[in-house]
Amino acid sequence: MPSQLKAILTTLLLLTTSSLASLSPHLSPPTPGCSGTPHPPGFHDTTTTPPIHSGNLTRTYAIYIPPSYAANPHHPHPLILDYHGNNGNPLNQYNNSRYFDIDTPLGQGQSYIAVYPAGMNGSWQSAPYAVEGVDDVRFTGDLLDHLRREYCIDTTRIYASGKSNGGGFVDYLACSDVGDQFAAFAMSSAALYSDKGVAQCNNSKPRAILESHGGNDSTISYLGGPRSGGFLPDVREWIGWWAVRDGCAADCEDCKEVEGENGYEVLRYDCGGLEDVVVHYEVFELGHCWPSSTGENSDSARSYCGDRSLDFTSVVLEFFGRWRLGSGGVEMAEGWRGWRT
Ligand SMILES: *[C@@H]1O[C@H](CO)[C@@H](O)[C@H](O)[C@H]1NC(C)=O
Ligand SMILES: *[C@@H]1O[C@H](CO)[C@@H](O)[C@H](O)[C@H]1NC(C)=O
Ligand SMILES: *[C@@H]1O[C@H](CO)[C@@H](O)[C@H](O)[C@H]1NC(C)=O
Ligand SMILES: *[C@@H]1O[C@H](CO)[C@@H](O)[C@H](O)[C@H]1NC(C)=O
Ligand SMILES: *[C@@H]1O[C@H](CO)[C@@H](O)[C@H](O)[C@H]1NC(C)=O
Repeated sequence: MPSQLKAILTTLLLLTTSSLASLSPHLSPPTPGCSGTPHPPGFHDTTTTPPIHSGNLTRTYAIYIPPSYAANPHHPHPLILDYHGNNGNPLNQYNNSRYFDIDTPLGQGQSYIAVYPAGMNGSWQSAPYAVEGVDDVRFTGDLLDHLRREYCIDTTRIYASGKSNGGGFVDYLACSDVGDQFAAFAMSSAALYSDKGVAQCNNSKPRAILESHGGNDSTISYLGGPRSGGFLPDVREWIGWWAVRDGCAADCEDCKEVEGENGYEVLRYDCGGLEDVVVHYEVFELGHCWPSSTGENSDSARSYCGDRSLDFTSVVLEFFGRWRLGSGGVEMAEGWRGWRT
């Protein structure tokens, strides 16, 4: 091709892509699944989704397809991967985070595809009791490949959440390269066995991190200590490690503490130009639970889950709504209001 023509075409192409970008700043390239067949709405358990092969193992997952996806199967949707606790299962976690029934102005739970991976024999990599040799970080990467092929996903808005062992795995994932594919991470009562200090983490880019922890957690103690043949960090010390990893000073110079007249305290850090990029909730009277204000989730029935002061799912969805992936890593998604049918 003559170089002049090539230059004109290149200019045209640049003009087209830049005007597209300004029209729709959060446009993500369609995943192969965007041209595929529609998927029926609702919860589909591990017996109805196709298993995938990862690290020589057969791995399974459940999925929730929101009505908005079924109505617009070619519109890229944000995605949450939600990991259950030790000896838990996808249905239990689906009913714990309950992303599906949140309908608050900030909620937007109905706009997400939510996927519930099943742990090998009920547990996740990073805990002392995890099945030895199982690579769940690799499984997560393989699962994302599979989901992008089969579903129409907004790859700038992929998130991870989890409870207990699932939360500890989300922390481990945030510390890995596969974590680069996620815009934000949320955990409740995280069992942080694998996290031992600032330098233990292999992330090369900043991470948006949210965690809630019960002050009355007698399973994964707020103050840390030995358990299950491993050792857990003090939760406040650990959240400070994330602030430092994201470019904050170690001494909480940049942190904001909001006193808990509502039954909980919030700790927030602005780091490296990212506002409230590390956020922690301490729920004073809560035990080892995914915090629910309505008492409708899987954990609610437990004797130590009676503290109803925080609705964590709303907090998680608000947090996720604030973050997306740009070319350089996590960015604030200002002005994003979500969309509904
Ligand atoms: C899968 O199994 C083959 C044959 O036993 C082995 O060579 C390979 O290293 C295994 N791969 C993984 C990821 O475990
Ligand atoms: C899971 O548990 C079953 C039954 O205890 C055992 O046979 C199987 O080997 C375990 N799976 C792995 C990957 O260790
Ligand atoms: C980080 O790297 C170390 C050393 O290669 C490895 O042992 C550890 O498992 C890695 N952690 C994560 C979360 O990938
Ligand atoms: C969800 O949790 C509630 C409260 O613990 C329980 O009554 C209900 O049966 C659970 N539903 C499912 C599908 O597990
Ligand atoms: C705190 O935890 C203990 C042990 O799990 C439980 O017996 C107690 O009821 C909890 N306290 C509150 C206020 O829920």
